[in-house]
Amino acid sequence: MLERRTLGHLPAKPHTVFKHNGKVTTEYVFTRDGFAGGFSISYHEDAPTNMKSAEFVSFDTTRMLGIAVPFHELPNARRHVKTWEAKEGKDLLDSRTAIWLNDTTRLSVVRGQIQSEYAFSNGQFDELWFIYEGKGTLLTMMGALEYGPNDYVLIPRGTAYKFLNQGTFEAFLTEGSPAIEIPAEYKNPHGQLKLEAPFTHRDFRSPERLLTEKEQNQFLNIASLVSNTVTMHSYQTSPAKVIGWDGSVYPIVFPILDFLPKTGKIHLPPNLHQTFSSPQNFVVCSFVPRLVDYGEGAIPCPYPHSNVHCDEVIYYVRGNFTSRKGVSERSASFHPMGLPHGPQPGNYLASVGHKSTDELAVMVDTFQPLYLTRAGLELQDPAYLNSWIE
Ligand SMILES: [Fe+2]
Repeated sequence: MLERRTLGHLPAKPHTVFKHNGKVTTEYVFTRDGFAGGFSISYHEDAPTNMKSAEFVSFDTTRMLGIAVPFHELPNARRHVKTWEAKEGKDLLDSRTAIWLNDTTRLSVVRGQIQSEYAFSNGQFDELWFIYEGKGTLLTMMGALEYGPNDYVLIPRGTAYKFLNQGTFEAFLTEGSPAIEIPAEYKNPHGQLKLEAPFTHRDFRSPERLLTEKEQNQFLNIASLVSNTVTMHSYQTSPAKVIGWDGSVYPIVFPILDFLPKTGKIHLPPNLHQTFSSPQNFVVCSFVPRLVDYGEGAIPCPYPHSNVHCDEVIYYVRGNFTSRKGVSERSASFHPMGLPHGPQPGNYLASVGHKSTDELAVMVDTFQPLYLTRAGLELQDPAYLNSWIE
């Protein structure tokens, strides 16, 4: 994912006896892509394999996992989902409402209380959170990191975590398989982010400290998602008693406002706003406040277009999104492949002469069609379809 980082105590060589406070520790190797991809190695007071039970969770996971509406039940059309009307949940999993999904991707809105008795590990997808509202501490076995509004939080699949959130919480969650990554094209052959990349290594925060004993003990029960099934695993001793770790796989926080947007003499395409990608499956782009195209006669508003290989979802955070009418903060719009889309009448030419935009939005373009969920359908705004009629 990014460069090797480290926290706490480590032996000089991996896979060797390592004593801490007179006690032999247990090594835990956490890998991606089999054993060939990125990895991290952590050292635990007690073996993280000390599981004592595995049972189906006692709560209903239907809304979290989503039920897809078959394509033949809905006309292929642009849509607007009012995410602010999604049900507020009572804990981390109950707060999730899946809106769109396919085999490799799930897009959800998360609203309500996200504090839970258990920790959660998504063994099926990497999770990319965009925090609309809420702040606090994300606890993971690799340590704690702070998050707040306008932060992306990227949690690698299989990472057990808990949010300790203050106040209300609302987020747009993108789950991706096999991975959500920093786009490879932003890296040089040495793995560094290139000088022209829209962010630098310094913008990505990783766990800042190891967990306290009290925090470690919050990992005795871990709900894990695999194959669209959530199982509760209970442990004899906390698997989160970590003495130290190093490696390239760890959760990160990236504030969207640290994204460095590019502006051209004439309009530059949205792929320049790419922030994360799930290779073969989707890209995530950040539209942040910026100066706009400055050439004589330049039209800053995006042109009508067909991106014939992409379904497009945009989550609007704030500001005036020049290309769209009929959306507001926390709207999620959907424009499917196979249909041209673009600004509503009047918006396009009205943008000539604009010097800047204050829009803040997250876009997910998927390369396979997305199914709307039953819950998403209930949140739909039927007026959007006709908002292009003059
Ligand atoms: Fe588009």
